[in-house]
Amino acid sequence: MSRIAQWRLRAAVRLLRGIEGDSAGFRPKTPSPASDGRPRHIAIIMDGNGRWATARGRSRIHGHEVGMREALWSVLDAALDEGVEYLSLFFFSTENWNRPHAEVAALMRLARESAQGFTDFIERGVRLLWCGSEKGLAPEVVRALREAEHRTRQGRATTVALCFNYGGRAEITRAAAELARAAVAGRLHPDAIDEGVFARHLLLPTLPDVDMLIRTSGEQRISNFLLWQSAYSELFFVKTLWPDFTGDQLRALIRTFPARKRRFGTTTASVAAARHQGAVRPEQ
Ligand code: FPP
Repeated sequence: MSRIAQWRLRAAVRLLRGIEGDSAGFRPKTPSPASDGRPRHIAIIMDGNGRWATARGRSRIHGHEVGMREALWSVLDAALDEGVEYLSLFFFSTENWNRPHAEVAALMRLARESAQGFTDFIERGVRLLWCGSEKGLAPEVVRALREAEHRTRQGRATTVALCFNYGGRAEITRAAAELARAAVAGRLHPDAIDEGVFARHLLLPTLPDVDMLIRTSGEQRISNFLLWQSAYSELFFVKTLWPDFTGDQLRALIRTFPARKRRFGTTTASVAAARHQGAVRPEQ
């Protein structure tokens, strides 16, 4: 192997290991799929409840109720069956406060009910983590989410990150403010801030990068969801409205995932060589 090829291979191995690169402060994150190519972390934008209900002459709130009662538990069941390690669900964004008051109130009620629903999966190893802000929430909503987190804390099969009162920009801004405070207080040198340090200040520092980002309802945008964690995720936009989405559809999408060619800024050959050298390892 030529020296240039050797250097390229070493660089790819470093990249995939997440070891600090040559340029100061640049630290790429380790790609996270399981070694058999299945996605470790699936994130879903559960979109289309309102349109589903309107098409049936029902209220948007009815659409949210069916979206929870039918699709949510079916998808969680499939994620558990498939051994998905992390499932992130976008339930309410920091921008969703601008929806009509009755709809916001209904979503608050559904969040409390769903917190209870997640605890029904305790025996199957679900762990619930809330990813979001307490700001503006009624104490009983906060209490329900924290209690569900506590009751499911021993879960080891699938971690559900419930993104509730969550915004990607707000999460990044909050991390930046925390780091700025630490720097001003003299506890952190600005030169020590790299991507790894920054990621430890996100809302859920143990959440790995998103492998598959799914949005239902045919819309093709991210809408401020897990902006940091989705930097290299594969995007899946499906036409099905959320209440009609099923665990079987999730299973089918998971089957298509290994066909995606992920390069993480390098080349397909370099990724394959680095994998062959055992550079790809689970993060947590
Ligand atoms: C982003 O679209 C999507 C979300 C924040 C998810 C919203 C999901 C719900 C309200 C349903 C909750 C799920 C259940 C099961 C009850 P957006 O509409 O906020 O952003 P956009 O304006 O860019 O489309």
